[in-house]
Amino acid sequence: METGSNAKSDAGSQEEPKIQGIETPLGAPPKTEDKKPHRITKRWVRTNRISRPRTLAIDVGGTGIKAEILDSQGKPVTERTRVQTPHPATPAAVLGAIQKITDGQGGFERVSVGFPGVVKFGTVLTAPNLSPRWKKFNLGKALHRIYGKPVRVSNDADVQGYGVIRGHGVEMVITLGTGVGSALFVDGKLVPNLELGHHPFIKGKTYEEKLSHAALDAAGKKKWNKRLKKAVRELQLIFNFDRLYLGGGDAKHIDFKLPENVKVVSNQAGLWGGIALWQEASSR
Ligand code: BGC
Repeated sequence: METGSNAKSDAGSQEEPKIQGIETPLGAPPKTEDKKPHRITKRWVRTNRISRPRTLAIDVGGTGIKAEILDSQGKPVTERTRVQTPHPATPAAVLGAIQKITDGQGGFERVSVGFPGVVKFGTVLTAPNLSPRWKKFNLGKALHRIYGKPVRVSNDADVQGYGVIRGHGVEMVITLGTGVGSALFVDGKLVPNLELGHHPFIKGKTYEEKLSHAALDAAGKKKWNKRLKKAVRELQLIFNFDRLYLGGGDAKHIDFKLPENVKVVSNQAGLWGGIALWQEASSR
């Protein structure tokens, strides 16, 4: 059965074992027990009861690229590694950076990626904060070639959303960082690739132009917060969401009282949400 999450590809995917015990929402993952980097040997996996399949989760951002390995329950089994996003952020440069931070990560059976643009069937259509060279680049295929494992790629805000939603009602996610990401879920089903960031918001300027990290730097915290407050009000009126989650690196700058149904969520969800990409029966 084809599912609603059309932003994904499982390049080279075979029939994956069904994940037991995880239902959207994933909720916060259990804490990493072992904080020290360790070599992932077969013995280590056995003694630490790492449940398979393990997922190499990658979060490609406009500023940083992060990676870690999660067990089948979404629990991190390695230290998160991070590298600055290269400039220019061409496909070759980003793939090089990904390889650099995943080299020492150890064994995994599949790969999940959150990417900052529109992605369909593993192919990137837009990457406004990276490089125009991404247009029509099949990231799913490229990563499959590198790792030889099934790969699923989805928009970064969509992945973050999978990591935080409860799975009922209308739930919305806005990520505040280099770009402004957005995701919409109805009873846990994703409406993929909602690109609210590029819609007009104030005086013909888009949400991203008014709320991105560059806008925060240019306008200052006070003005940025005022704009965000207005955005939250407007989104409530347009989408009538039951819950809105605010994520991304700049969510920590929010300094006004949020309505009851609006919550700030951990940025880590951009990684652990990657597990949920494998809950769909297939990808489109
Ligand atoms: C992109 C979105 C992305 C967001 C956050 C925007 O510029 O269009 O697809 O989710 O940045 O990275």
